[in-house]
Amino acid sequence: MQIAIIYHSETGNTRRMAELVQQGCERVVGVQARCMSVDAVDQDYVDGAAALILGAPIYGGSCSWQMKRFLDTGSRRTWAGKLGGVFVSQRYPAGGGESFGEMVIIGGMLSRGMMVYSGGVAGRSDGLHFGAVSVGAPEGIFAERCLRLGEAIATRASELSLPVAS
Ligand SMILES: Cc1cc2nc3c(=O)[nH]c(=O)nc-3n(C[C@H](O)[C@H](O)[C@H](O)COP(=O)(O)O)c2cc1C
Repeated sequence: MQIAIIYHSETGNTRRMAELVQQGCERVVGVQARCMSVDAVDQDYVDGAAALILGAPIYGGSCSWQMKRFLDTGSRRTWAGKLGGVFVSQRYPAGGGESFGEMVIIGGMLSRGMMVYSGGVAGRSDGLHFGAVSVGAPEGIFAERCLRLGEAIATRASELSLPVAS
């Protein structure tokens, strides 16, 4: 089963999160994951993926315009029925716009008929609310959250019968 991790990143923080999410996915036996920038998406790989995990920096309290552009124009092929997860990178601890930015990405997924999974529950220090969030470069607890997101999405995607293009 394959998973596509699609990110936008200018200074590397979100790209590093994507790499950690990939590592988390590949903790699950039988799962192959690949990271790709919004500017270099492998459409065939995405078609064959059971899950898509999208990540972006927070710009002006929302997801970056590059991610929004990708959501609006990046693929004319269907994502319906795939499982979705989300991660964002920001500068300011709590209050930089993380939840709103995640919800904008989640809205893009829902409007394409995807099923969204946060990857965990609130109430733990390493918990995931809407998805993984990092302040700056993902280290320590922020890196853990990326790994947990990838592993959780991969585990759930493996359990479900999800449509993929052959
Ligand atoms: C145009 C612009 C707007 C930004 N707006 C916010 C913001 O509203 N809240 C915040 O916490 N960080 C904001 N940041 C900081 C970035 O989200 C942060 O540096 C992020 O880690 C960059 O990710 P990247 O290294 O993947 O490009 C902004 C950065 C830029 C360039």
